[in-house]
Amino acid sequence: MKILIINGPNLNMLGKREPGIYGGETLEKINREIEARAEILGIGVDFFQSNIEGEIIGCIQGAQCGGIILNAGALTHYSYAVRDAVSSVDTPVVEVHLSNIHAREEFRHKSVISGVCAGQISGFGKYSYILALEYFKYKLEEN
Ligand code: DQA
Repeated sequence: MKILIINGPNLNMLGKREPGIYGGETLEKINREIEARAEILGIGVDFFQSNIEGEIIGCIQGAQCGGIILNAGALTHYSYAVRDAVSSVDTPVVEVHLSNIHAREEFRHKSVISGVCAGQISGFGKYSYILALEYFKYKLEEN
């Protein structure tokens, strides 16, 4: 089983970017930890990050995997195009956020993609990704 982890705009800045909100670890470091946890769970993982909306859409459309873990960054709050990409594919998508978007500025409370995702995990830092991996482990084992 392979899971694709997609990170959107500004998530390449983790480590430098607002560490009080997003923590001090780089995306690279978080990805290595996800990889280690995935190995324990017996799941293969691929990673993709882009600051460009169209590249994220292309990645979702072309994904050859059992599931996608998507942190769309700020695109979460306004990109109908990312939403349409998620609903265009059969691959289940779990929306994740490092921060608790519901406890932050009002514009972050709304996700335009959550309605087409399998679910949303928000507020657990890097563990949001790891919890999503666990979901896929249990869910895909059912089939
Ligand atoms: C984020 C939350 C978004 O509101 C923000 O624009 C991000 C990161 C998170 O992981 O907490 O870029 O998706």
